[in-house]
Amino acid sequence: MPSVSNKGLTMPQSPIRKLVPFAESAKKRGVNVIHLNIGQPDIKTPQQALDAVKNNNINVLEYSRTEGSEEFRTKIAKYYLKNDIPVSATDIIVTTGGSEALSFAMNTIADTDDEIIIPEPFYANYNGFATACGVTVVPVVSKIEDNFALPPIEDFEKLITPRTKAILICNPGNPTGYLYSKEEIQKLAALVKKHNIFLVADEVYREFTYDDKSHTSILKEAGLEDHAIVIDSVSKRYSMCGARIGYLVSKNKEFIATAMKFAQARLSPPTYAQIASEAALDTPDSYFAEVKTEYVARRNILIAELEKIEGIKIARPQGAFYCIAELPIEDADHFAQWLLEDFNIDNETVMVAPAAGFYATEGLGKNQIRIAYVLDKNSLKKAVQILKEALKSYKG
Ligand SMILES: Cc1ncc(COP(=O)(O)O)c(C=O)c1O
Repeated sequence: MPSVSNKGLTMPQSPIRKLVPFAESAKKRGVNVIHLNIGQPDIKTPQQALDAVKNNNINVLEYSRTEGSEEFRTKIAKYYLKNDIPVSATDIIVTTGGSEALSFAMNTIADTDDEIIIPEPFYANYNGFATACGVTVVPVVSKIEDNFALPPIEDFEKLITPRTKAILICNPGNPTGYLYSKEEIQKLAALVKKHNIFLVADEVYREFTYDDKSHTSILKEAGLEDHAIVIDSVSKRYSMCGARIGYLVSKNKEFIATAMKFAQARLSPPTYAQIASEAALDTPDSYFAEVKTEYVARRNILIAELEKIEGIKIARPQGAFYCIAELPIEDADHFAQWLLEDFNIDNETVMVAPAAGFYATEGLGKNQIRIAYVLDKNSLKKAVQILKEALKSYKG
């Protein structure tokens, strides 16, 4: 039999999706599975985005421009300006989700075996993109005890080698919910300038900030223009994950010109999805105000309920819609599978994401889970109740 690539063999499985077969068989047994494991918001997609796809007179579904349509990028630039982020349409490449923006970014800045430093725990698919691009992820540990704040800048500096091409952060963080402060961003900015490397910020959750805290985009940092690369997406912002539209944004002309060659190889981003996303940009601010109010209420309920569980440790999220909880168990992988295979209360159980897959350092996060609070408040309350009872029954 012909063999598959070593790269393919080392490609990590998604820690978020690998328990799906167990969830499916629980459902076949008639058990209702409450999903705390995946960041698929239940918020309604703005109506004008859905209408724009229905109400257009396209006769030939053509390729669009490689970098995305001119009108769309012009409107995206306006969105950034409204957020005090000074970019223009030529600084933007529209991609097939933030996912493609991540892979273009890695391919554009790094050669095989080059290194990217990432605070862990991090969005697990960074591992997958790094493997596909031949890039080595160098983790720097952030701690639940510190709410997953930026590790000391010296910890980053110690890890910089001649092969280091970038530091990658997610702000606000998936899976941590941590929102980096302006001071933390400025420390990172100074470090990347000192070592002449890139700073890549995944800002797909930019709007989801709580407790009156505001988001600091790296694109606002004066003097960082040649270093800053932003990953963005409409998926969570407008609850349109299925559109598959994201953006790669940088003021660095050489970076954009080089990334464009990767973009040309895949021809163009999807046409209908650009139409929907362009219309979504007209979403009134009141939509975000409502969405934010809802997520804050969900977070508060989730944290309050989790805190009632004995032996639990929680990092309080200030953004995005995820929370890492450390449980009084040894192996969250086993626990998550057990919840689906062997436990239910009145035919209901919960699905959580074991957190080890969000770490690159072997052994870290083994007793932690990631919870996505994308469910209504009653479901969240019920889910935590089930989790609490499960922990009492679980024998490890
Ligand atoms: C931090 C982060 N970055 C990027 C993505 C990719 O999003 P998409 O490809 O849907 O734009 C996600 C999706 O969950 C994410 O959480």
